[in-house]
Amino acid sequence: MLILRFLFLILLSHNHQQVLSCNQLDHASLLSVYNYISPPLNYSSTDCCQWEGISCTTHNSRVTILSLPGKHLSGSISPFLGKLSFLTHLNLSKNHLSGPLPPALFHNLKHLKTIDLSSNQFNGSIDPSFLHNLITYNVSNNSFTGPIPLSICKGSPFLEALDFSMNQFNGQIFHGIGECRKLKVFRAGFNTLSGWLPQDFHRLTTLMEISLPNNHLSGPINSSIVLLHNLTILELHVNELSGQLPPDIGLLSNLEQLQLHTNSLNGTIPPSLMNCSNLKTLLLRNNFLGGEISALDFSILQRLQVIDLGNNSFSGNISNSLCLCRSLTAVRLAYNELTGEIPPCMASLRSLAHLSLSNNYLSNVSRALKILKNCHHLAVLFLSRCFHDEVMPDDDDGLNGFQNLQILTLGGCQLKGEIPNWIAKLRKLKVLNLSYNKISGPIPIWLGAMPSLFVLNLTQNFLSGELPHQIGGMQALIGDNTSSDLSHLALPFLFDSLQYNRLFNLPRGLKLGHNSLSGSIPEEIGRLKLLRVLDLSNNNFNGGIPGKLSNLVNLEKMDMSGNRLSGRIPEVLSELHFLSSFNVADNDLEGEIPKGGQFDTFSVTSFEGNPKLCGYPLMRRCPEVEMRSIPKEGEEDPDESLWYNNDNYVPFGMGYFVGLFAVILAFCWRRNA
Ligand SMILES: *[C@@H]1O[C@H](CO)[C@@H](O)[C@H](O)[C@H]1NC(C)=O
Ligand SMILES: *[C@@H]1O[C@H](CO)[C@@H](O)[C@H](O)[C@H]1NC(C)=O
Ligand SMILES: *[C@@H]1O[C@H](CO)[C@@H](O)[C@H](O)[C@H]1NC(C)=O
Ligand SMILES: *[C@@H]1O[C@H](CO)[C@@H](O)[C@H](O)[C@H]1NC(C)=O
Ligand SMILES: *[C@@H]1O[C@H](CO)[C@@H](O)[C@H](O)[C@H]1NC(C)=O
Ligand SMILES: *[C@@H]1O[C@H](CO)[C@@H](O)[C@H](O)[C@H]1NC(C)=O
Ligand SMILES: *[C@@H]1O[C@H](CO)[C@@H](O)[C@H](O)[C@H]1NC(C)=O
Ligand SMILES: *[C@@H]1O[C@H](CO)[C@@H](O)[C@H](O)[C@H]1NC(C)=O
Ligand SMILES: *[C@@H]1O[C@H](CO)[C@@H](O)[C@H](O)[C@H]1NC(C)=O
Ligand SMILES: *[C@@H]1O[C@H](CO)[C@@H](O)[C@H](O)[C@H]1NC(C)=O
Ligand SMILES: *[C@@H]1O[C@H](CO)[C@@H](O)[C@H](O)[C@H]1NC(C)=O
Ligand SMILES: *[C@@H]1O[C@H](CO)[C@@H](O)[C@H](O)[C@H]1NC(C)=O
Repeated sequence: MLILRFLFLILLSHNHQQVLSCNQLDHASLLSVYNYISPPLNYSSTDCCQWEGISCTTHNSRVTILSLPGKHLSGSISPFLGKLSFLTHLNLSKNHLSGPLPPALFHNLKHLKTIDLSSNQFNGSIDPSFLHNLITYNVSNNSFTGPIPLSICKGSPFLEALDFSMNQFNGQIFHGIGECRKLKVFRAGFNTLSGWLPQDFHRLTTLMEISLPNNHLSGPINSSIVLLHNLTILELHVNELSGQLPPDIGLLSNLEQLQLHTNSLNGTIPPSLMNCSNLKTLLLRNNFLGGEISALDFSILQRLQVIDLGNNSFSGNISNSLCLCRSLTAVRLAYNELTGEIPPCMASLRSLAHLSLSNNYLSNVSRALKILKNCHHLAVLFLSRCFHDEVMPDDDDGLNGFQNLQILTLGGCQLKGEIPNWIAKLRKLKVLNLSYNKISGPIPIWLGAMPSLFVLNLTQNFLSGELPHQIGGMQALIGDNTSSDLSHLALPFLFDSLQYNRLFNLPRGLKLGHNSLSGSIPEEIGRLKLLRVLDLSNNNFNGGIPGKLSNLVNLEKMDMSGNRLSGRIPEVLSELHFLSSFNVADNDLEGEIPKGGQFDTFSVTSFEGNPKLCGYPLMRRCPEVEMRSIPKEGEEDPDESLWYNNDNYVPFGMGYFVGLFAVILAFCWRRNA
């Protein structure tokens, strides 16, 4: 088909030779290029300079531009592309082109200034020698392999942008890049590059951006990098860099983004960094940095929006001068050794939306909240394992405010007191984690009236009394009126992808395990259709397991172990098709374990510690007199489970003959198979 069209066009072009304005050599080459790709492009005109994506010189009609970005093209590159000898601009970005580039493709393309092959599926290695006038070279987001070809700088000393990112380049970034004396942008992130940073970086004084994240680069950041005065973006995160930050890093006065997180850097933050008045983003988390944070004077960083120093060994008080960075929207100091109190001046951070101070040694949680309630934009507040052994701030602390708060964590602080009423006023709160504290008293009735809450974690406290039936009113667990998408809140770059996913894909859940709750399990919980996790384990609940829980069609995990529940396990629970974890161990349940559905997958540990339970997977057989319930009209025959349940357990009574029949059938089936 393609060949026919090709021949036809050649014939056509011969018939109309006199009206052709485009150069015949180029015409033939382009035909080949277009025939290597699909879907077919518009080349109805006899003048190839009129074809889609083509431009020519005016005087001799030579093709200079071939630009077909984002056209959903697939196929590969024809070797004839290399014959378009006047080509200056090649842009095939954002297509589905694949395969290796033809050998010696660029040998005759002496005029090429721009090559953009980004976002395709090209593979193989690249040979850019013979290129002499390149300005822009972008091969990012493909599957190229081999070393990154820095010989390109020798041939094309006027290169301004080099983008090798998101491929499978490996090996070291050797000497050679220093020859690119006009280079402004150098990107090679998300490859498997190793070795040290190039030694001749400091010669590239024109550089504005160095972006090499997510490789295996090691060794120190050479101090000579501070000679790159025009550098605005320095991204070396997620590598294996070690040693200290260059002491004179403050000489990089144009720096806006410094991302060095997730390396093995040690030492302190050089005071000179506080001279980088253009800094907007400073990410240093997951390193071995330390020192007194209060010794740093942040006051010059008026444009700073995001600072993440988490998971290092910073100590001392939170610096007062941080409050002077009025543009701050996100501050993460979690997982350090900070002490003292939150400085009162933080109340003036009016743009602050995200604050994480988890895992530190701060004190006075009541005062901290009183200060932070003034940050009206605060949406995310992580304070778990941040305070220790204090009293839960209560309503006497005047905690109105927090009207935009969506996530509040105060877990693992050993806080005493009751669940305070001020929380009831947080109409936007979606996630509340008060786990691992010493909170006593009842579960307040108003929790059921919180309009947005869909993750409630009260695990391991001293909560007592009954679980109020009003809990079944939690709107965000009943209907999908509130979005459970927390991702727009997050500043994704604050987290490594793994942690990010863990935090922001929280399943809707009620976690009330390890408390002293008593009474029966309210059947109203069955209304919370969107629940994915229900943990009531290790309390004093008694009575039966409500059959209404079978309405929780999204439930993946149900834990009721370690209570005093009695009666049978409702058979309808076998209708919960997503239930992958079920635990009722250590109760006082009786009768036969339901069969079918997910119940065929649960192990002994889900049921042990109930002396009166019987049936699979327990070793205890049920008494033979017991009758299986007669299936109601319109319901599935419960014995259907036999078809795939080929253990040696055979039900007696009603199901016996059905079962026998099934076994015979299954036997014949297998013989025939
Ligand atoms: C193909 O291009 C020619 C001009 O080059 C134009 O007149 C014609 O409308 C185009 N056809 C389609 C289907 O786009
Ligand atoms: C290639 O085309 C895309 C889409 O129009 C454009 O965004 C990109 O800047 C072009 N590449 C170059 C190097 O000009
Ligand atoms: C390379 O192309 C991609 C799009 O495929 C773009 O996002 C990126 O900014 C380009 N690189 C440079 C240095 O312009
Ligand atoms: C990478 O390329 C694919 C198409 O090949 C595109 O869908 C995707 O958005 C690109 N990714 C980036 C980060 O540009
Ligand atoms: C390149 O990709 C093609 C499929 O598009 C495959 O057949 C070929 O083996 C790959 N070559 C290399 C060097 O990976
Ligand atoms: C830093 O780079 C300079 C210049 O290339 C070199 O002489 C020096 O040895 C390097 N220092 C370290 C610690 O690598
Ligand atoms: C740095 O940037 C300024 C302003 O864009 C420019 O005038 C200057 O030439 C650049 N310096 C170098 C060494 O490229
Ligand atoms: C930093 O780490 C290097 C090894 O990477 C080590 O030699 C040096 O002593 C460390 N410095 C500090 C201050 O811990
Ligand atoms: C910050 O810059 C000022 C003026 O440019 C200079 O005097 C001071 O020494 C610098 N501070 C540090 C710590 O480098
Ligand atoms: C802290 O950083 C280390 C080393 O980068 C990493 O292994 C660890 O998972 C991080 N811990 C947290 C809580 O982020
Ligand atoms: C830390 O702050 C407390 C008050 O909260 C103050 O008493 C103490 O002196 C400060 N310590 C340092 C090292 O600044
Ligand atoms: C909630 O409680 C569980 C214990 O069941 C704990 O492991 C988890 O980290 C807590 N936090 C969140 C946000 O779920």
